[in-house]
Amino acid sequence: MTTTGPVSSLVQALGEIPPQPVVFGCSEAMRTVRERLDKVAGANVPVLIHGESGTGKDIIARMIHSQSPWKTGPFVKVNCPAIPGTLLESELFGYEKGAFTGAYGTKPGRVEMAHRGTLFLDEISELDLGLQSKLLQLLQDGQFCRIGAQEDKKVEVRIVCATNRKLEDEIENGTFRQDLFYRINVVNLYLPPLRERRADVPDLASYFLEYYNRKYNCRARQLSSELIRLLEKYHWPGNIRELENLIKRYVILGNEDAITSDLVGREQEYFNPEIPIDGPISLKKITRQAVRELERKIILKVLQANHWNRKQAARALGISYRALLYKIRDAGLPSSRSARRKPEEGVVAQPVAAG
Ligand SMILES: Nc1ncnc2c1ncn2[C@@H]1O[C@H](COP(=O)(O)OP(=O)(O)O)[C@@H](O)[C@H]1O
Ligand SMILES: [Mg+2]
Repeated sequence: MTTTGPVSSLVQALGEIPPQPVVFGCSEAMRTVRERLDKVAGANVPVLIHGESGTGKDIIARMIHSQSPWKTGPFVKVNCPAIPGTLLESELFGYEKGAFTGAYGTKPGRVEMAHRGTLFLDEISELDLGLQSKLLQLLQDGQFCRIGAQEDKKVEVRIVCATNRKLEDEIENGTFRQDLFYRINVVNLYLPPLRERRADVPDLASYFLEYYNRKYNCRARQLSSELIRLLEKYHWPGNIRELENLIKRYVILGNEDAITSDLVGREQEYFNPEIPIDGPISLKKITRQAVRELERKIILKVLQANHWNRKQAARALGISYRALLYKIRDAGLPSSRSARRKPEEGVVAQPVAAG
């Protein structure tokens, strides 16, 4: 089977995968991912990768492919939500001439293009029930049918799926087939959100710094320890993708102030105590975290209202100056100077006062 002609552009180049120590870092959850990946990459079994957006599901899918026996074969990605429902079937399974109005020729689908390679189905929960049953057939016996074809075709393909939703919930709602779930979920890799692997933030940040310095031919300096502390404390709703974009911007702008104030701004919009989905919930612990978080926001607001004059802010808060300095450090808040916002960013500048 070939992948030449107009379809070849759909077969993705593998692109750059960061070095393993960067990808896996040092958290326990990522160690499990690495161990499982090493075990399953070589075996042709379906893998389901789940985790929030931006946690590295694409990278892990590509790593699986690059360590599989079919690594020299194609890696074909299908971003299910990006293709409108009616087109998805023909994109995936292809069609025969005359299968429907406008089918002037035959067209192979992406399943065929992935022959002897990896088919990566991103956001699998977006497949409708009809397509789910076609996919089930493919997983069961390696066969599928082009739209309008009389006969089934056979392919050998490794299927990797990704989702940022909990498929068990979709099954409960009746929007995802349970039998398909068992088929795609032979091995499950869970990628933790970045806020659950904060210890990896500094290494990831230096990796991106070096990477974008090289890529854009820039010479942005190492991040200050103060900014690194801020990065470690931040909650990263966009995960590694958000961190990467932030560092990219720093490299291009070459100045910490802009991203520091940006982080502080993002921080202020956030008040959402973390509640573990599985495992025991400690009300006491969560409440304590929430109170700390709230205290941090209040301090930040009062500091800003007092133009970062810390003596004045301490008076406003009814605490001692020393206590405020301690809390600022403890909360990983930035120093007065770097917290200014630039007028060119469309935000009113805060005059800096000593204190
Ligand atoms: N562990 C990692 N190490 C380095 N970069 C990563 C890592 N995980 C993700 N990235 C980068 O973050 C961005 C988002 O990753 P991606 O795999 O697209 O996430 P997802 O598919 O889960 O939304 C990509 O640019 C990717 O290169
Ligand atoms: Mg993705």
